[in-house]
Amino acid sequence: MDKTITINGDNVKLSEDKKAVILIDQTKLPNSLEYVTVQTAEELFDAIFLLKVRGAPAIGIAAAYGIYVLAGQIETDNYEDFLDKFRKQKAYISSSRPTAVNLSWALNRMEGIVLNNSDKSIFEILALLEKECLSIHEEDMAMCLAISEHGLTLIKDGDGILTHCNAGPLATSKYGTALGPLLLGKERGMEFRVFADETRPLLQGARLTSFELNQAGIDVTLICDNMAAMVMKNGWINACFVGCDRIAANGDTANKIGTSAVAILAKHYSIPFYVLGPTSTIDLNCENGDDIEIELRVPREISEKFYVQPMAPTGVKCYNPAFDVTDHSLITGIVTEKGICRPPYRESIAALFR
Ligand code: MRU
Repeated sequence: MDKTITINGDNVKLSEDKKAVILIDQTKLPNSLEYVTVQTAEELFDAIFLLKVRGAPAIGIAAAYGIYVLAGQIETDNYEDFLDKFRKQKAYISSSRPTAVNLSWALNRMEGIVLNNSDKSIFEILALLEKECLSIHEEDMAMCLAISEHGLTLIKDGDGILTHCNAGPLATSKYGTALGPLLLGKERGMEFRVFADETRPLLQGARLTSFELNQAGIDVTLICDNMAAMVMKNGWINACFVGCDRIAANGDTANKIGTSAVAILAKHYSIPFYVLGPTSTIDLNCENGDDIEIELRVPREISEKFYVQPMAPTGVKCYNPAFDVTDHSLITGIVTEKGICRPPYRESIAALFR
């Protein structure tokens, strides 16, 4: 494994000539550090759909940079023509993955720039779009740091933390959300014992979370998803920290498949279960978790991917939802950059936007 990999802040960036988005190909980690250069709408769609860039905030940042790059390729001086072509690209990129709201959130912000500046030249609009995508990225770094500070108030030196999937710097910009308090605490001399669920079927916990924590010198133990109950029963877990892809107005939270099972177990063992994420992941248009669209992915991710030979009979039926919804009643607190929401979530979440 390449020990020289540095991931803070450079997992998603604009190329120097501003004509491409450069991404760390997360599908290649932890074995090699490879970058992909994205210049076309199809390349951006594939990078998101194939999880080369993944994690709700990182997808949003990549989409913002991407739509800026694509806008620069639109050949017209006419505003209406520009807007029409911009919207077509936006709709296409937005359809690459349905669950993480940060994707449409970031694209809507970029579209807002175009809509609010119809009196300006295309050249000026492009300059404003560049500013906006850089702001989205910078704001994410600030939000992750604030989330990390708030999250750190919930744990103490020596605690055992269980996490699911990957909500670290790779999934965001810097620090991450669920891993943020652990990375920040480590910088301040605190020690934690982290248990990382491998996160079937795409192994974000094994490949990315254990990699990021290992690199930061944090004590991390990889477990299979079905071992969470055992480590909780053993008394090794003081809190669960997970990320989120979309939070409904009532606190129901979509996150990587398997998260709700962790929350149910945590409740059984009286372990606090915290969701950590920026307010950009809250979708007030979703009344509750039933309104959240869950991405279904191809069977071969379960039956064949990562195995030398297929691990299931050819053609066997597979059900492969990428996310599940954790009921708000199982969530002890939702940690945002603006503070920690506690039940009742409908009130505490609404208060964040007042
Ligand atoms: O399918 P993925 O890898 O994009 O799923 C990622 C997660 O579920 C993360 O927990 C979530 O996006 C939060 S990342 C800060």
